[in-house]
Amino acid sequence: MKYKIKNICCIGAGYVGGPTMAVIADKCPNINVEVIDINKERIDDWNNKDFEKLPVYEPGLAEIVKRCRGRNLHFSNLLEEKIKNADMVFISVNTPTKTKGVGAGKASDLKWVEVCARQVAQFARGHTIVVEKSTLPVRTAEVIKSILESSQSSTLNFSNNPSFDVLSNPEFLSEGTAINDLTNPDRVLIGGDRKDAIEALCEVYRNWVSEEKILKTNVWSSELAKLTANAFLAQRISSINSISALCEATGADVREVSRAIGSDNRIGSKFLDSGPGFGGSCFKKDILNLVYLSEYFGLPEVGDFWKGVVELNSWHQHRISKLVVKNLFGTVSGKKISILGFAFKANTNDTRESAAINICHDLLEEGAILSIHDPKVEKWQISKDLGSKYLNPINNDYINENNNSNISEWSFCSTIYQAVKGSDAILILTEWDEYSFIDWERVSKMMRHPAWVFDARSITKPEQVIKFGLNLWRIGDGYERPTGDIKI
Ligand code: NAD
Ligand code: UGA
Repeated sequence: MKYKIKNICCIGAGYVGGPTMAVIADKCPNINVEVIDINKERIDDWNNKDFEKLPVYEPGLAEIVKRCRGRNLHFSNLLEEKIKNADMVFISVNTPTKTKGVGAGKASDLKWVEVCARQVAQFARGHTIVVEKSTLPVRTAEVIKSILESSQSSTLNFSNNPSFDVLSNPEFLSEGTAINDLTNPDRVLIGGDRKDAIEALCEVYRNWVSEEKILKTNVWSSELAKLTANAFLAQRISSINSISALCEATGADVREVSRAIGSDNRIGSKFLDSGPGFGGSCFKKDILNLVYLSEYFGLPEVGDFWKGVVELNSWHQHRISKLVVKNLFGTVSGKKISILGFAFKANTNDTRESAAINICHDLLEEGAILSIHDPKVEKWQISKDLGSKYLNPINNDYINENNNSNISEWSFCSTIYQAVKGSDAILILTEWDEYSFIDWERVSKMMRHPAWVFDARSITKPEQVIKFGLNLWRIGDGYERPTGDIKI
């Protein structure tokens, strides 16, 4: 039987659901796309008249939402109604690591996915194709299927006579380049066991993706391929970060090593930039999930191999904070350190698992006073991540925003130059473009000397920094001493 998709509903209006559905709506004007979420504030933000204030910042996203919202793209909390009308339901909800119970600290928490499956089971009418967009452990489709099938026999939804197909269609977008990744994907992966359902989803993608880029597999391969892709990518970063430490110890330069190994076709040049350690909501969670699955299936050696990738990442982040403390004469207590960049990478406002969180926590524990700048992350988000007192940069008063605050003293600064005023050190943690164009002469004059620049993203040009009397450390390259004095 041929299914023609006219109404899509996506459960979950987050970093994946929002941009993915916006692109589907843009590329498929004949399909009506409804994005629903239980979080009312998030939906209000998606419906914001000011397109600069959408809840997700992604280059190019606002323009697409502007074109499609109110036409064939809608955001609402109307779960029941939108599920009822849909021929295809995407599940794009969060799947964080479990914090308690069996598998705590490793397995993915599937409670949100299960709730979605139950909602679909209760409200769907006729035939509905359910698509796993969330990243899920292998064999989750089986769980979803059994929940959906139970509705066919239950009295809850008996009169609507529902029937279902379950497909796996993991998302490979990266934040910061999500729109480009969605419009020009390397591949679209569809896992399923019924040809008609697979074909219906293929037809949606064919509106803008060429046939040879649409890969079809069985459901389990598709689910496992997503976890494996993230594990391989994260592994490359831990590999190069481990080498960066060795470079610093030996006098080699990690960028030269990356270039040398990356020009081998078998290795490839991408994803070899050493940084402050990978962040983002998924790498750590997906690898831990892989570790859990390996152990569950009696393969602890496989689990240990992948666990090492996460452990090295955590060690590497702490290595950077320790190095800052060591160079500031072994103590940062009462010293001002400017943090440039809080997002886990450039071009996103997302801070989930950002290296900045661990590194700032370490420095705050040591007694440092941080002035934090990020062009897209808002103060409330940093406050949530650091859970602490807020230092008003205008009058230097502490505002206790959070009663159960424990450690910290930090301020949020809206410009780089406000952040660096009077500081002993600058620590660059996100590779925002604007940090490559800092006026180091101006900055040097505003700092307390001897002053340091710690560049964990390797985006500064050493000669432009050291000639203004600044000490410089760059990831995987080591130290450069100041060559010039600064006249203050
Ligand atoms: P997110 O937290 O930004 O968004 C998830 C949304 O789902 C939230 O707004 C939440 O309120 C909503 N939600 C939860 N339960 C719901 C329910 N029962 N009904 C309606 N709404 C519900 O998460 P995200 O970053 O979009 O990630 C979603 C999934 O996609 C995860 O499995 C993640 O691993 C995967 N993924 C994420 C990325 C990424 O770059 N963020 C990329 C690829 C895959
Ligand atoms: C990653 C994957 O790249 C996506 O394919 C996947 O869909 C997504 O996870 C997911 O499943 O959530 P994302 O985390 O958004 O995407 O961003 P990446 O570009 O992969 O960066 C992840 C982290 O690695 C960032 O902290 C980044 O700064 C760091 N990184 C990346 C490096 O330190 N060096 C590099 O060379 C590349």
